[in-house]
Amino acid sequence: MVSTTEQVTKAVVPAAGLGTRFLPATKATPKEMLPVVDTPAIQFVVEEAVAAGLDDVLFITGRNKRNLEDHFDRAYELEQTLAAKGDLERLALVEEATKLARIHYVRQGEPLGLGHAVLMAEQHVAHEPFAVLLGDDLIDARDAVLPAMLDVRARYGGSVVCLMEVPRERIGLYGCAAVSATDVDDVVRVHDLVEKPDPAEAPSTFAVIGRYVLDPSVFEVLAATPPGRGGEIQLTDALRTLAAEPDRPGGGVHGVIFRGRRYDTGDKLSYLQAVVRLAVERDDLGPELREWLRELVAADFTWSPEVNDAAATPGSA
Ligand code: UTP
Repeated sequence: MVSTTEQVTKAVVPAAGLGTRFLPATKATPKEMLPVVDTPAIQFVVEEAVAAGLDDVLFITGRNKRNLEDHFDRAYELEQTLAAKGDLERLALVEEATKLARIHYVRQGEPLGLGHAVLMAEQHVAHEPFAVLLGDDLIDARDAVLPAMLDVRARYGGSVVCLMEVPRERIGLYGCAAVSATDVDDVVRVHDLVEKPDPAEAPSTFAVIGRYVLDPSVFEVLAATPPGRGGEIQLTDALRTLAAEPDRPGGGVHGVIFRGRRYDTGDKLSYLQAVVRLAVERDDLGPELREWLRELVAADFTWSPEVNDAAATPGSA
């Protein structure tokens, strides 16, 4: 066991993917900017990083980065208009994203894969361990997992992945980890990782989800990692090397098993499910939305004139 006292302060949020599963919405907007009810998914992710003490956030951006930069920047005209109207509640919402963290940007010239995107962070991160948070994976703030992952890094060194148990028939959609138990509940040692395995051959039903705490030695490994599945440089492949070589400096990979609420916004169906799940829990929207959903289900999703009326909520004009 390598107990380390160094603090992790930097979060890297890759947002340079093509988002092809979400076209045409992602033609001109990064998928991380798609709203989950009324807030871009990436804002939740930044809030999560900050809540875990990581207030230095580096976005890896690609084409269409403008929306993203604007969202985390001041919007003077809008702010002045809301202030002049005395609409302080909405003004606070607009200002919130600009005050969250110290935000930096680096460009990934070509979308050559998540591993390649992470490699773009090397100069900013330098020799410190850092977290990576994917913007299409939302972890409910009530079930925060980053603090536990940071503890595991502090205890064992090396890198840490976040694992979620999924039905075997779905493991082929994820990176999958071969693991063994440690003496701590829900913390495992990762021996091997395989990206999107055939379910019949998958070494476990533990899927890797979009939170990582990485040792800076990952950069050296990524730089030497050839393109893998889909012609992309896969973060999973670099982690596989680190998992296989626990004795190299910075090597070794552990996993924290996550059993909380997670919302996937990466494809159309799971995005819709995420929006509905989060909206029904909100005080301002939940009661009416639940009622409307009940009516919709009772009517077996057929249209009636009342459905038009139910869609017009007070104050929406
Ligand atoms: P995904 O594979 O989910 O994103 O990458 P994608 O490629 O944009 O999605 P589809 O499959 O075409 O719909 C996981 C994360 O890595 C980022 C993405 O933005 C996403 O947050 N990523 C991926 C990059 O930043 N650069 C890349 O080259 C690839």
